[in-house]
Amino acid sequence: MRKKVIAGNWKMNKLPNEAIAFIEELVPLVKNTKNEVVLCVPYTDLFYSLLVAQNTNIKIGAQNMHWEEKGAYTGEVSAEMLKSIGVEYVIIGHSERRQYFAETDETVNKKLKKALKVGLKPIVCVGETLEQRESGKTIEIITKQTKLALEGLSNEEVEKTIIAYEPIWAIGTGKTATADDANSAIHEIRNEISKIYGQNVANGVIIQYGGSVKSANAKELFSMPDIDGGLVGGASLDATEFSNIVNYEK
Ligand code: PGA
Repeated sequence: MRKKVIAGNWKMNKLPNEAIAFIEELVPLVKNTKNEVVLCVPYTDLFYSLLVAQNTNIKIGAQNMHWEEKGAYTGEVSAEMLKSIGVEYVIIGHSERRQYFAETDETVNKKLKKALKVGLKPIVCVGETLEQRESGKTIEIITKQTKLALEGLSNEEVEKTIIAYEPIWAIGTGKTATADDANSAIHEIRNEISKIYGQNVANGVIIQYGGSVKSANAKELFSMPDIDGGLVGGASLDATEFSNIVNYEK
């Protein structure tokens, strides 16, 4: 059985004091869950968040990284730097990074390889735009993004990669894919992985859904057979709401 991974993506939100207060509030609310709880926070919150989350079941992640170890890359942060302070997860290729910061399938692939090499747990985002969905290209786009992201990885590396299927039209819009649509898109991603890496590998890969997940729809989405939890933006900014998503079975 694949574990459900519920990851918050705070995006560019929360100062360190807000991050500390949030995590202190969240700890007792999620301490009994069997689901994996992750918070992907801004770089400036990482160290504080790691300290407060120490000895709890809350894991801390970053929202981006560079593929080189070090060098003349002003403003960038490497996988080694994240790992060195105890960060466990990293989001790679979020659609906002693809849209506003020129992230491509090629840079996603480079970052993914590096994250795995260093021992970070990557959450790789794929998803179609509204235009692509309306022209019937959803499956083509998301399977291609998946294939290019995973190119050159070993079976073991693919198994360690988390994929987040996030239809771009559902991010921050309040519009959610129906549970059936999300499940079938994720099923196609799993299918593509099985074609290249075999059914066993595909069955082990955690694939989340993201895009306007909230406590009101989490149960319906996460109960689907192919959906292994979620990547949660807006609704992860409130500790009670996020804990209700983590505890969606209740
Ligand atoms: P949202 O964001 O939950 O606010 O739609 C999801 C994401 O961008 O990861």
